[in-house]
Amino acid sequence: MIQISDTIQLEEISNDNFNALYSLMKEVYPAAYSHFWKDGGNWYVNSQYSKENILKELSEKNADYYYVLFNGEKVGNFRILWNKELEGFSEKRIVKLHRIYLHKNVQGKGVGKLVLNWLEEQAMKKQYEYIWLDAMDEQSQAFNFYKRMGYQYHSHCFLDFELLYDEVRKMSQVYKKL
Ligand SMILES: CC(C)(COP(=O)(O)OP(=O)(O)OC[C@H]1O[C@@H](n2cnc3c(N)ncnc32)[C@H](O)[C@@H]1OP(=O)(O)O)[C@@H](O)C(=O)NCCC(=O)NCCS
Repeated sequence: MIQISDTIQLEEISNDNFNALYSLMKEVYPAAYSHFWKDGGNWYVNSQYSKENILKELSEKNADYYYVLFNGEKVGNFRILWNKELEGFSEKRIVKLHRIYLHKNVQGKGVGKLVLNWLEEQAMKKQYEYIWLDAMDEQSQAFNFYKRMGYQYHSHCFLDFELLYDEVRKMSQVYKKL
């Protein structure tokens, strides 16, 4: 367990404790994104957080997966992909924050900021120079949060998931120099 403040801890997700991830995301994801999807986001959660996909992601090299705990309770999760490439940065040491999700009960209380600050510190200790992530443009809460945290536009693409509404398909890659 990693203590990052008086109230916030990180617990590594592993083959022994991944079971809580699906039920957590079944609650957290639709609260933020159900209106993006024709099926309320069921397909996305069921595929990304299936046992098979979680185990596949846990087996990937150069990746870490954490639960975020607030006062001892699991309230979120995120992944770190060390050395995940971003176009134009192939010569650089660069890390990706992959999917950070916090429960709506703890949003806006500084938890996301502490987690990002912690990750940026870890990356700097390992001599990483840049951090990047994907953010959906129409999720203004997350988009504004990253802007506030100093991330800037790099590029964008349009997601081709069949069940996604057309007007929310835009996803930007944003990055920050550490
Ligand atoms: C996006 C998310 C990770 C942000 O974490 P958070 O704990 O809610 O954000 P924080 O309270 O740490 O906010 C940090 C800073 O961003 C700012 N911020 C947060 N949300 C904001 C918003 N909607 N608009 C403008 N600024 C915002 C805060 O004001 C704060 O600024 P400050 O340092 O000046 O006080 C979290 O809300 C979340 O998980 N949302 C739902 C899922 C999601 O969309 N995840 C992103 C997937 S890419």
